Amino acid sequence: MDNTLMNNLLSLIKHRRSIRRYTSQQIPREALAQIIEAGLHAPNAGGGQRSMIVGIHNAELAEQIGKMNLAGFNRANLAGGHVSKEQPSIIDNPSLKSGFYGAPTVCAIFCQERFLYSIPDAFCIAENMVLMATSLGIASCIVARGEDTFRSEYGKTLLEQWNVPEGFVCRAFVLLGYVDGEYPSAKTIREGRSVIVK
Ligand SMILES: Cc1cc2nc3c(=O)[nH]c(=O)nc-3n(C[C@H](O)[C@H](O)[C@H](O)COP(=O)(O)O)c2cc1C
Repeated sequence: MDNTLMNNLLSLIKHRRSIRRYTSQQIPREALAQIIEAGLHAPNAGGGQRSMIVGIHNAELAEQIGKMNLAGFNRANLAGGHVSKEQPSIIDNPSLKSGFYGAPTVCAIFCQERFLYSIPDAFCIAENMVLMATSLGIASCIVARGEDTFRSEYGKTLLEQWNVPEGFVCRAFVLLGYVDGEYPSAKTIREGRSVIVK
């Protein structure tokens, strides 16, 4: 990789922010396919490629699942503090109705529940996907609570429809769409979070 590419990658990484305000404009199917492809190429424990991605390219269904995701959110477990002033999360704003903030496309990442590294595998996939999305000018946000989202009978029916194998659980979501309003600037990094030793 030449220096220009590396500098571009760092700029892209810094530019990516979690977006929690979306317009209703749907993303192109080809872009979704590329974002999923980037996810499938993520590093994964033991090279086993044990995870699966379901792309929900349907705003209505995404909204419905977003409400199921919020239902599994327990305010009693809050660690405190706020997440974002620019893009308030469900922690910051209790009046939000969906854990997916109206994103018109959502990808669910499923992994083997009993595999020790299924959580890191899922979030490596998610990170590849949000970076790919950013490079395509598509806004994104990684969202948790996948494990609780599909516990209902309806949730289980969806997994059957999507051919999610038995023993798999949703570890993460990637929301996709276009930012409504201003895109946030790069964040400030707290001091003392890294050290280089010899
Ligand atoms: C493991 C993980 C879980 C997350 N879960 C949620 C979530 O459930 N809801 C949400 O709005 N954001 C979620 N986020 C996004 C973080 O809040 C966000 O990355 C963080 O505030 C830093 O902001 P930035 O992504 O804009 O740099 C999650 C991020 C990670 C890495």
